[in-house]
Amino acid sequence: EKIVIGVDIGGTAIKVGICSMEGELLHTYEGPTGVEKGSDEVCKNIADYARLIVEQSSFAWDQVEGVGIGIAGFLDMAQGIVKFSPNLHFHNVPLKAILEEKLQKKVLVNNDANVAALGEAWAGAGRGISDCVCYTLGTGVGGGVIINGKIVEGSRGMAGELGHMSIVPDLEAIQCGCGKMGCLESVSSATGIIRMAKDAVERGDRTSLSFVPDIMAKEVFDAAKAGDEVAIRIVNRAAFYLGKSMAAVAVVLNPQRFIIGGGVSKAGEFLFEQIREVFQKMTPEIAQEGVEIVPAILGNNAGIVGAAGLIIRS
Ligand code: BGC
Ligand code: NA
Ligand code: ZN
Repeated sequence: EKIVIGVDIGGTAIKVGICSMEGELLHTYEGPTGVEKGSDEVCKNIADYARLIVEQSSFAWDQVEGVGIGIAGFLDMAQGIVKFSPNLHFHNVPLKAILEEKLQKKVLVNNDANVAALGEAWAGAGRGISDCVCYTLGTGVGGGVIINGKIVEGSRGMAGELGHMSIVPDLEAIQCGCGKMGCLESVSSATGIIRMAKDAVERGDRTSLSFVPDIMAKEVFDAAKAGDEVAIRIVNRAAFYLGKSMAAVAVVLNPQRFIIGGGVSKAGEFLFEQIREVFQKMTPEIAQEGVEIVPAILGNNAGIVGAAGLIIRS
């Protein structure tokens, strides 16, 4: 019996899972990414956790068919090189080669949001449909485009980087981790939401957020739900640009579904209603027919399952 290891590398944690060849998730393990210690340490951690999860299971290392990895950043998928990762601070790291050497297994590497999208399309909110576009709202804004059941990578692997869609007008734009101004990620990620909240507090705006010692995105949503006008404005802004970006994507790709996951999406219907409203206002009627905007359902495991899917479906 063969198994596959799926790895999801985030800014704070590396999640590893053992999947059956049918994509059923059998075990999971999670450990720190160690990003502050640099890319060598991150690669070492990936290898350690992969070995460890197999040791802790009833499977043997020989049964591992391959290791699929999802990682944040702009990648050359064919070569398995992380060219640039705004939030992990990786530059030209040959992840595939390093891990094939360490693990002596076939390794396939793809973008974190692409694999999460593949996971959702395969076993989550996109099950049974062929074309969907996923957003993951966390430290960054990730995107994954699935057409005909496959990840769209583009000519050089940069397709689906929806977080860096240039969408905020010049006068309001601020700098993104990628170096450019006005990216979606700068307003709709957890980081962007927190930054807008802290700016408001520093400016002296009247808001209950001034009494929150360590503002997280959740606090901003809670305040907005409780009627805090400053928080409402911040959430409106995050939702506005998400809806606007979906209007743009809808006329390019006409997906059946937009699937939104990641920590920020836990804000729930409160956020989704605002996004849908903007989308409906901005997309030609005919182009929004049958298009749904729905929450992801695999939650934290979408990345692991999708990463395993890279091997299983290759
Ligand atoms: C990166 C993407 C990644 C996303 C979510 C963005 O800043 O450019 O590659 O998918 O963050 O982690
Ligand atoms: Na992507
Ligand atoms: Zn950017």
